[in-house]
Amino acid sequence: MAKITLSIIKADIGSIGGHIKPSQKLLETVENYVKEKGRGFIIDYYVGFTGDDVAILTTHKRGVLNPKIHKLCWDAFLAGTKVAKAQGLYGAGQDLLVSAFSGNVKGMGPQVAETEIEERPAEPFLMFAADKTEPGAFNLPLYLSFADPMHCAGLILAPTIKKGFKWVIMDVAYTKADRVIELVTPEESYDVAALLRDNGRFVVESIWSRETQEQIVSASTTRLHNIAGKYVGKDDPVMLVRAQKDFPATGEILSPYTIGHFVSGFMRGSHTGPLMPVKKNSPISYFDGPPIVSCLAFSIKNGKLTEPADCFDQPYWDYVRTKISQKAEEIRRQGFSGAAMLSMSELEYTGVMETLKELEKRFKVRRK
Ligand code: 13P
Ligand code: 13P
Ligand code: MG
Ligand code: MG
Repeated sequence: MAKITLSIIKADIGSIGGHIKPSQKLLETVENYVKEKGRGFIIDYYVGFTGDDVAILTTHKRGVLNPKIHKLCWDAFLAGTKVAKAQGLYGAGQDLLVSAFSGNVKGMGPQVAETEIEERPAEPFLMFAADKTEPGAFNLPLYLSFADPMHCAGLILAPTIKKGFKWVIMDVAYTKADRVIELVTPEESYDVAALLRDNGRFVVESIWSRETQEQIVSASTTRLHNIAGKYVGKDDPVMLVRAQKDFPATGEILSPYTIGHFVSGFMRGSHTGPLMPVKKNSPISYFDGPPIVSCLAFSIKNGKLTEPADCFDQPYWDYVRTKISQKAEEIRRQGFSGAAMLSMSELEYTGVMETLKELEKRFKVRRK
């Protein structure tokens, strides 16, 4: 059977009323572009948004990093940017950081998560998209879903899952090339944790089954400040996770999102806030946040997608969202102080550095 590629390519190309959500016209433009220009070489597609970010999911047979697929999405974003400019949307073309397209969109601003698969007889997978946060936001949920039986009952109950997983983790602070390490769990789970605790530096790129050698997870790793050299908006990552059978069950993959763990992002990408699981096509609001994550489940057959099932649209998650709102409010009470605002190494890319440089000149060392 021919292999199928799942590609998620996502960008912020402009938003209504600040960094809230894209306009209907922008979305329709992107979707129509993909539908019309992708005819003949994509099998299926889905276009949606999370906060101010537009995600394009395509299915095709061209493999990962395919120039034609990437160009299709890039050009769809350019068409959307034109609408954003015409409508006066905020941050029109925000994530399209490089002007000339060269082969694929990696390193150009959009977030990318792709995997080429041998379709299983039933192929459920999840499409995650986050807004107002960084790629490392997925580190803890992935660790808990793939290495902790408190969330993944399959690690105890299913022999093929118990065999564990191979992790490919990227050092995103290294900008000259991809710097990666491969580790296996359960044997090296403490080493995986030692890296994944640092969300700003080490990011899960992919996870593989040790039972079947198949790729289960593909997550985006792009840090925009490394491309732009300054703060131009938050990275807002995407992720693909295949589910069930020899892989964790959908519910095990969703389980860690009950925590609302604190991540980097929120207002001006410079604060700490809890990650809130939201329904599809949700805007952001409070303090340009809180950081949000959406999750759509699909099934496919020969690359044809079903309609999405909205994983966080269920009464349980209303309760979770209320609790997470309380966490967001608690940390916001301390404003700019200490843990509420990011460390200087992250703020390095923002305008606060100018102020500090000026103040530096006014410091005096007292003579005894
Ligand atoms: P079903 O019996 O509904 O297929 O569920 C099996 C399962 O593993 C759910 O996590
Ligand atoms: P986005 O990266 O989602 O555009 O957010 C930018 C920002 O600074 C919000 O305050
Ligand atoms: Mg924006
Ligand atoms: Mg965004």
